[in-house]
Amino acid sequence: MRDNARRYGDLIGPPATRTGEPGQARKGAAVVRDVGAGVLAGEVATQSLRACFVFRALLCSSVHFVLYSLFDRYACRYSIATLVVIRKTRHTKRITNNEQRSAPTAKRTNNEIFPMPKNVKPVYYGDYLQLDKLLDAQSPHSKMYGPEAHDEMLFIIVHQVYELWFKQVLHELRAIHTEFSQDQLDDSALQVVAHRLRRILAIQDLMNDQVGVIETMTPQEFLEFRDYLVPASGFQSIQFKELEIRLGLTRNTRIAFDQQSFYNRLNDEHRAYLEALEQQPNLFDRVDAWLARMPFLQFEDFSFWDVYQQAVKNALDRDEEIIRQNASDDTQLATELDSLQANRDNFSALFDNERYESLQENNQVRLSQRAMLSALFITQYREEPAFHLAHQVITSLAEMDEKLTIWRYKHAMMVQRMLGTKIGTGGSSGHDYLRRTTEQNRVFKDFFAMATYLLPKSALPELPSSVRQALGFYFRHD
Ligand code: HEM
Repeated sequence: MRDNARRYGDLIGPPATRTGEPGQARKGAAVVRDVGAGVLAGEVATQSLRACFVFRALLCSSVHFVLYSLFDRYACRYSIATLVVIRKTRHTKRITNNEQRSAPTAKRTNNEIFPMPKNVKPVYYGDYLQLDKLLDAQSPHSKMYGPEAHDEMLFIIVHQVYELWFKQVLHELRAIHTEFSQDQLDDSALQVVAHRLRRILAIQDLMNDQVGVIETMTPQEFLEFRDYLVPASGFQSIQFKELEIRLGLTRNTRIAFDQQSFYNRLNDEHRAYLEALEQQPNLFDRVDAWLARMPFLQFEDFSFWDVYQQAVKNALDRDEEIIRQNASDDTQLATELDSLQANRDNFSALFDNERYESLQENNQVRLSQRAMLSALFITQYREEPAFHLAHQVITSLAEMDEKLTIWRYKHAMMVQRMLGTKIGTGGSSGHDYLRRTTEQNRVFKDFFAMATYLLPKSALPELPSSVRQALGFYFRHD
C-alpha cells in the first residue's frame, strides 16, 4: 500500500518541499488597526480610520501608485532605498497623525535605511534554478517495458508544471492565511491580501489554459502508457489536496466517495500531513470571522438593516403589483406569485436567526449570518472608500472559486475524452466522479448566492451623512 501510494509523486518527480507546515505561523507584520475591530473601538479607531485613509489617498494614490504602475508596466525596479523611504514615510505619518493609537510593533522603529547587501558570490543561471535536478526529473515508465511511448514525456511535464504552479499558489495562500490569522486586519494587510489573490487568479488562468496542451494527446496515444501508471492517481496530488483543504473544503462537504477514498491512497506521511491540516482554521473560516467582526451592522442609533428590510419590502411589493397587472391568465399569475413568495422567504431568512440557522443546517448557506450581512453591505455600497479593498477581496475569492471550478470542469471533460466511461487509475468512476466535484467542492459559493439578496442601486436606502463620513476618507487642514 505504502509503495503504491507513493507512485504519483514518483512519476512526476521529487516531492515538493512545503515551507509552511500546519501550525507554523509566520510572525505577522505590524498591526496598525482592523477595519472592523478598529471602528468598533470607538473614537480612537475612528481617528485611525480617517488618518489611514488620508494617507492612503495622499501617499498610495500619488507616489506609490504612480511608481507601482511604472513598475507594473515597464517591469523596471524600485530601488530598495525608494521602497524603504516610501514605506517609512507612510508608517511615520500614520503614527504622528494618530497619537492615541498604540505604536505598531514593526521591527524598524527609527528612520534607518537598511540597504540590501551586495551578493558576494557570482550566480550561474543553471545552478540558481537547479536545472540539473529539474530537467533530470522526467523518467517515462514505458521505456522500462519496451520502446518509450512518445507522449509520456508530455504527460509528465504537464503534470510537473501544474505541481509547480500549485506550489506557487500555496505559497501565496499561506501568506494570505498569515495575514488573516491576525486578530486585526489593517488596510495595508488587506492590500497585501488583495495583491496576492490577484496573482493567484493570474496563475489560475494559466492553469485553465494549460488543459489544452494535454488535450493534444489522443486517447490512443495515452493508452500506449496508461497501464504502466496504475495505481498512481491525481488523488495523490498532495499539493492539490492541500489547496482544497486550505481554502476550506472539509471532509464532510466532499462527495461521499471522496470522504475517505483519497486518504486510503496516500502514504502515512502524506495522510498525517493532510489530516493535521484539516484541524487548522482554513481560509473560509478566517474570512468568515473577519467579515463577522466588521462593525457595519449598526451605526449608533442608525440600523441599516431596518431600513434595508423596508427597501426590500417596497421592491417586492412593486414586483407583485407588476405581476398582477401583467399576468395573462390565472395559472401564470399563480406561478409568478409563487416564485415571488420564494423570494420573500429568502430575504426574510436573511434577517431571521432561526431560519438562517436552518439554511446553514441544510447546507444551503455556509457563511455565518453576521458575515453574510457584512458581505452584503460591502457589496451594496462598494463605492464607499472603506469598502474598496474588502470588496476586492470578496470578489477575488469568488473569482478564485469560479476559476477552480472551471479547472475541475475542463479536467473532467478532458478525462471523458481520454477515458470515456473507464474508471480512473485511483479507482473512482473517472469522468462521473470528477464532474460531480465541480459543484460539490466549491468553497465560496455564498458570495455567488449573495446576488439573491442584492437590490438595484435605485432601490437602496441612502446612508446618512454621518455613516458615509465614517466610511469615507477626507482631507482635513489641522
Ligand atoms: C490524460 C490526462 C489525465 C487523465 C486521464 C486524468 C484522469 C484522472 C482521473 C480519472 C481522476 C479521478 C481519480 C482517479 O480515479 O484516479 C483524476 C483526478 C485528478 N487529476 Fe487527473 N487526469 C489527467 C491529467 C491530469 C493533469 C494534467 C493534472 C494536473 C495536475 C491532473 C490532476 C488531477 C487531480 C488533482 C485529481 C484529483 C481531483 C479530485 O480529487 O477532485 N490530472 N484524474
